[in-house]
Amino acid sequence: MLKARSAGLIIKMLKLGVNIDHVATLRELRRGIEPEPVFAALVCQANGADSIVVHLREDRRHIKERDLCILKEIVKIKLNLEMSVAADIVQIACKVKPDQATLVPEKRQEITTEGGLDVIANFKKIKQALNKLESQGIELSLFIDPDKKQIDAAKKVGVGMIELHTGRYADAKNEKEQDKFFKELEIATHYAKTKGLVVNAGHGLNYYNVYRVAKIKGIEELNIGYSIVCRAVLVGLERAVKEMKALMQ
Ligand code: PXP
Repeated sequence: MLKARSAGLIIKMLKLGVNIDHVATLRELRRGIEPEPVFAALVCQANGADSIVVHLREDRRHIKERDLCILKEIVKIKLNLEMSVAADIVQIACKVKPDQATLVPEKRQEITTEGGLDVIANFKKIKQALNKLESQGIELSLFIDPDKKQIDAAKKVGVGMIELHTGRYADAKNEKEQDKFFKELEIATHYAKTKGLVVNAGHGLNYYNVYRVAKIKGIEELNIGYSIVCRAVLVGLERAVKEMKALMQ
């Protein structure tokens, strides 16, 4: 883990994994060649991202196998592949060998990942996928809800790392609800740490709600995608318009 030295103290720096799926979503709107997710990954890398995250979905709605292969060759920071336990996806992951694989649940009709993996109900399937990925030297993580039973199951299935689903906290309708789901994340983080697990978190985090989660002691990495890509559109628009206007003159 990255550490910063300040006045003799060693401070653990919270890491940021940038999910670039939605750069590919934009590309797929026109089925064209831009924006190129690999270029986006390089910009993230040059600006402090600690890892690049992509989800190779079974329906390939955004990231394609080609993106994954090029990212693996080009990106120097950690490449974290979010993936289901589907046999063909496991096979691709074993071939490409990202630094890390994060197993997530996947439903065809969902807009984005809904809920964490049910490790208890899918124990055998998850174990089989983990065994294959582990044999290729890929670091493993499970995306789970902040729930003690799921944390116990993650430990039992043999992973050393989990990513807590922050969606309930992020989607809270009011302050009271947000407090409740925040507490849930704090308790789950503490519990997972007592079990010796590395704890990451993500989903639905944005420029307004990240602050509280970033302060939870024990969380090592936050994985954030949608809100960063959304903000990039707005903060980048001024330059994009000026460049076009200049070209036209
Ligand atoms: N972590 C996991 C496991 C995810 O599936 C996603 C969404 O792909 C994220 C983090 C990032 O979520 P968001 O795009 O809402 O920031």
